[in-house]
Amino acid sequence: MPGVVIVGAQWGDEGKGKVVDLLAKRATTIVRFQGGNNAGHTIVRDGEEFKFHLIPSGILYAEKTCVIGNGVVVDPRVLLGEIDDLKRAGVSVSNLRLSANAHLIMPYHVLLDSAGETKLGKLSIGTTRRGIGPCYADKALRLGIRVQDLLDEKILRTKIRAALEPKQQALRELSVQRRKQLKEAGEEAKASEPAAGVPDPRLDLHAMVEEHVSFGHRLEPHIADTARLCWDALDREETVIFEGAQATLLDLDHGTYPFVTSSNPIAGAATVGAGIGPKDIDEVWGIAKAYATRVGAGPFPTELFDDVGERMLQQGHEYGTTTGRPRRCGWMDLVALRYAVRINGLDALAITKLDVLSGIGPLRVAVRYRSKEGAVLDTFPYHQSILHSATPEYEELPGFDLELTSCRSAEDLPREARDYLGFIAEFVGVPVRLVGVGPGREQAVWLEG
Ligand code: IMP
Repeated sequence: MPGVVIVGAQWGDEGKGKVVDLLAKRATTIVRFQGGNNAGHTIVRDGEEFKFHLIPSGILYAEKTCVIGNGVVVDPRVLLGEIDDLKRAGVSVSNLRLSANAHLIMPYHVLLDSAGETKLGKLSIGTTRRGIGPCYADKALRLGIRVQDLLDEKILRTKIRAALEPKQQALRELSVQRRKQLKEAGEEAKASEPAAGVPDPRLDLHAMVEEHVSFGHRLEPHIADTARLCWDALDREETVIFEGAQATLLDLDHGTYPFVTSSNPIAGAATVGAGIGPKDIDEVWGIAKAYATRVGAGPFPTELFDDVGERMLQQGHEYGTTTGRPRRCGWMDLVALRYAVRINGLDALAITKLDVLSGIGPLRVAVRYRSKEGAVLDTFPYHQSILHSATPEYEELPGFDLELTSCRSAEDLPREARDYLGFIAEFVGVPVRLVGVGPGREQAVWLEG
């Protein structure tokens, strides 16, 4: 299976890191192809917890090449922080490669993300405020700064100068509008406070260039032509894993726009974000939790507001790795999952966190939606207004009380758990090949396809 793509099949945080970590055993190369440090994954190895935002999960295997592809947006401060943390933990990063074509999240992107969200108020997307959207916007506007620019001070200065001016202007306008909003809301005192750090030292051209030149020096040993590196590994018939961040329903084109991220987390985007051809992909895995969660705003038909949702939150420790926000929890949505199967061309599913459902029974899975006019919706609605007002209809399945955390084979799982997985596989038409029963590397059950 030389080219394997792994994507999130729901709204993110499905536990892709753990699955990549397990599948990475068979691979020589692991490649991130989109997103940035809005992602976060936690891997527990021998009881030690590792949290990553940018570096692919495979880094814990010393001999594997880990690639940050051209489609990723990289905050160099965050990347260097992760490199330092890993070195401190005794993990080698000598096999980490960073695409020279990846775009950089600059300080003004972070400021714009935050100011933009604040301005939107109740209409905000609930972004991670890490500068992801503004960075991808600059990429599309051809005002982006790329990793390779860090290696040439003259080019870097010219590009930052060109990009900075419109940002300063936009930030000034956002600040004026914010003051107006505060005044209108009767918060006169806040509105007349001097804006913190004006002019903002983080937006000083000279300091920014100097700092980024020094980032360039530190990152230089990792910078590479990463597309070529993928081709070479694939040509040698080695297994290469292309690891998506976020998930299908957060896809900029195919997710619940505008409540999405600013990149394409679906499988097809692995080609663009890593620089490979569609025919280099041999297998696509989708990762889904045994229930569903979502962080930030946006439609979530199976969301629960009761004790069951609260139990999922607590038992599943559903708090964001990146922002610490509690995640919204709900039942498994098979209408949405079937959509993810089709749009990604999934060959296999990994269902994570099945252990969290112990004692929460009976279990429900959404099998169709009903529109506000009463129409049956068997497929995921493409129209925002229909999705926003759709209500799910459920199939009820028996739950299980047995603790699953020590299950290691299909026979160890209670019949109800196997039936639950069987129902999902049958409904969406894709086999469940792997089941997560706890955070540890060993807490997994492999199933026959
Ligand atoms: P952004 O990617 O920071 O622009 O945020 C856009 C939307 O995607 C928000 O609803 C975020 O909560 C969501 N999001 C971004 N990254 C992740 C992730 O890794 N897991 C879950 N949700 C995410």
